[in-house]
Amino acid sequence: MKKVITYGSFDLFHYGHYRLLKRAKELGDYLIVGVTTEQYDEYRGKLNVIDSLMERIENIKQTGLADEIIIEDHEGQKVKDIQKYGIDIFVVGSDWKGKFEFLKQYCDVVYLERTKGISSTMIRQKNYKIVKLGIIGSGRIATRFAPEVKYVSGTNLEGVYNPSIHSARRFAQQFELKFFTDDLEAFFEKIDAVYIASPHNTHYEYIRKALEQGKHVLSEKPMVLHAHEAEEVYHIAKEKGLILLEGIKTAYAPGFLQLLAIAKSGRIGMIRDMEACFTKLVAGDIRELKPEENGGSVTELASYPLLAIVKLLGTNYKDLRFDTFVDENGIDLYTKIHMKYEKSVATGKVGLGVKSEGQLLISGTQGYIHVEAPWWKTQHFEIRHEEQDKNEKFFSKFAGDGLRYELSDFISMINGNERKGFKLTPKESVAIAEIIEAFLGKENTVTMKY
Ligand code: CTP
Repeated sequence: MKKVITYGSFDLFHYGHYRLLKRAKELGDYLIVGVTTEQYDEYRGKLNVIDSLMERIENIKQTGLADEIIIEDHEGQKVKDIQKYGIDIFVVGSDWKGKFEFLKQYCDVVYLERTKGISSTMIRQKNYKIVKLGIIGSGRIATRFAPEVKYVSGTNLEGVYNPSIHSARRFAQQFELKFFTDDLEAFFEKIDAVYIASPHNTHYEYIRKALEQGKHVLSEKPMVLHAHEAEEVYHIAKEKGLILLEGIKTAYAPGFLQLLAIAKSGRIGMIRDMEACFTKLVAGDIRELKPEENGGSVTELASYPLLAIVKLLGTNYKDLRFDTFVDENGIDLYTKIHMKYEKSVATGKVGLGVKSEGQLLISGTQGYIHVEAPWWKTQHFEIRHEEQDKNEKFFSKFAGDGLRYELSDFISMINGNERKGFKLTPKESVAIAEIIEAFLGKENTVTMKY
């Protein structure tokens, strides 16, 4: 019996998929189809798959062409499958020509001519109108964001707003955008959704104005500096049926989501302690060190540790304290955030003037999870137990600057996929704003000279 195998996402199942499966089946007697999981698609940078794994499997079943359907969830699986199932022919579309030559040592490799004029990408684009995206602000984070947009389908970065027209022009030229402007009204007229990458203390006003103009908003963190502002803007978004997301990139990254799932699964027992650290040494005439721009390590970095803590221990903390070192301008250069919950404690360490190990430790009654630095770009973590032979290592991918993950969810939510909203809920985002506000208001804070 001649066995054939082929793999794909098979999203929004179409005629091109059908023809490929039909021809693959004709090459042998038994056809195995490998369907990628959502996590594996994310891992390989395919962030736009719409149908769930179950729906995609069901569509393949309906063709009656597959004798067996398996799932593909990791790199290197193909070689194992070929050996395990005794495969004679590996088949894939001609868009992959040359990419699977290495499999020739195990079986025949056949590239079938791709069906012209159809693809999942085309259907996605037809079903969903392209979301016209604009950026407010053109500083460092905006320059990291712009190149990430091309990894997300269904959106296009159209233009930039900056009150300084020179900065806007420079940015638009650098990224070949359609327009640049210093006129906010004109900016909103040309876009459907906005990414806010301006200084922290301007976010609130821009978010409100954007929502009032009916635009969806993805805001850089910290989204706002006061909890009541966060509550207000989420309320407006809800009333108007718009998407508002806080762009703490870690929250949307596949490795972090896997980490949360494992930490919550009980594998380390009950979580009793968390320690999360993020430091970044900076110097010079930059926003991070300016009081008038709300600089400081908490406003700059605390969103990350607070995200991890709030995601795992919740928003219902009982006690909150800060120990902080400030410079002559009152900028905090190193701050320890102490949180107490009913049955756990947590510490967040952030620094612009003190360097420390950027790790995350989640300690439980039966073991702990060590997430290697930089934990906020979650790629590698280990569950460690008293008996070392039970330790387990996990690897994931954090592609590029990682801003593509939040943008992908943002676009997907605009297109009606509300399911994605669990990654950072308004309640969690408001709690993070509340903690930052408490610090800025010097509540329960011991201040020392740097
Ligand atoms: N395929 C094909 N003809 C098409 C589209 C896809 O033969 N018009 C083949 C691919 O070459 C692959 C399989 O179908 O072998 C599954 O491809 P997949 O990536 O799931 O489909 P695409 O439509 O190419 O998806 P996307 O647009 O998301 O890349």
